[in-house]
Amino acid sequence: MSLSSIDDVLRGWDGELAVSCHDERTDTWMFIAVHSTKLGPAGGGTRMKSYAAPADALRDACLLGRAMTLKMAVAGLPMGGGKSVLAVPRELSAADRRHLLLRHAHNVEVLKGSYRTGPDMNTTSDDMDVLGEVTEFAFGRSEARGGSGSSAPDTAVGCFEGIKASVAHVFGSPDLAGRSVLVQGVGAVGEPLVRTLHAAGANVLVSDVSLPRVSALYDELGVEVLAPESVIGAEVDVYAPCATGGVIDAAAIPRLRCRIVAGAANNPLGAPEDGELLSEAGILYAPDFVINGGGAIHLIGYEALKWSKEQVDAGVVGIGATLTEIYARADAEGISTETAAERLAYARLGQPAPPA
Ligand code: PHE
Repeated sequence: MSLSSIDDVLRGWDGELAVSCHDERTDTWMFIAVHSTKLGPAGGGTRMKSYAAPADALRDACLLGRAMTLKMAVAGLPMGGGKSVLAVPRELSAADRRHLLLRHAHNVEVLKGSYRTGPDMNTTSDDMDVLGEVTEFAFGRSEARGGSGSSAPDTAVGCFEGIKASVAHVFGSPDLAGRSVLVQGVGAVGEPLVRTLHAAGANVLVSDVSLPRVSALYDELGVEVLAPESVIGAEVDVYAPCATGGVIDAAAIPRLRCRIVAGAANNPLGAPEDGELLSEAGILYAPDFVINGGGAIHLIGYEALKWSKEQVDAGVVGIGATLTEIYARADAEGISTETAAERLAYARLGQPAPPA
């Protein structure tokens, strides 16, 4: 079932422009949403995923692009925000995938650097190397091809720091020993996050729609595995969504049994007002575009700003302090953490924040 029409996606969206085409060979709808170039060229990954209808994919690109604008602004990076979505009808053969990526690279090239892409859900450094055959505007190529490699491990580090800052805010100490943390989605970001949490002594629970992924972690680390349908009601200190967005909505919030929501997934809230609902339910929410900024800091830091590893690491670890500041502001002003984070982003953009 389609949740949106192109009409209501674009009418309600405050971005600059969205471009689209349909690739006949693979039956893929291709979208690039340029949300903002106010602070610099729009940056944001290429997501490959199936959707019920093209308008749903466009909506995802538009909203994810907006989240990228906020992410770059909060992280203090001189970039705007955008996103691309390749709405594939099914998993593609290697040859079809390459064909699609080359076409996408051409589209990125047509935008002449006003949109620069990178890896995102279901795309990797190898895919960025393919884009790099056609366009220079692809971050996250392999090191062999002159890129900075996968940004996912740094996204995980930033998320780990954000979880510690959130635990410190709620429990008075950042110590994770004995704290239960549920990681939903153990892909490129979730998997290294699980390892780091486990090493820090947390009691880690995992869930993923892919059984082989969770069973490998169970065999290796002995982490508890939850069925996907048990995630929302799980009684844990921290729930870390690290898969697709929209998992926390008005139906899910009353069923949550966690104290903190702090994960790396982009746009985990079903709607902006769900940030207020979480706050009313007494659950601390780490805004996604703050806690998952580690990948952007890695890609833009190394590749656009030519930062050293020390500078990138300091930026990624700084996500913890940024969240602590946002929590303090939210408490002081009696607003949700989502609203506090949006206000910080809009202040950097020099624009008024939309009404809370
Ligand atoms: N897709 C990742 C994110 O959402 C990494 C990324 C950042 C890709 C910036 C391109 C540009 O943060």
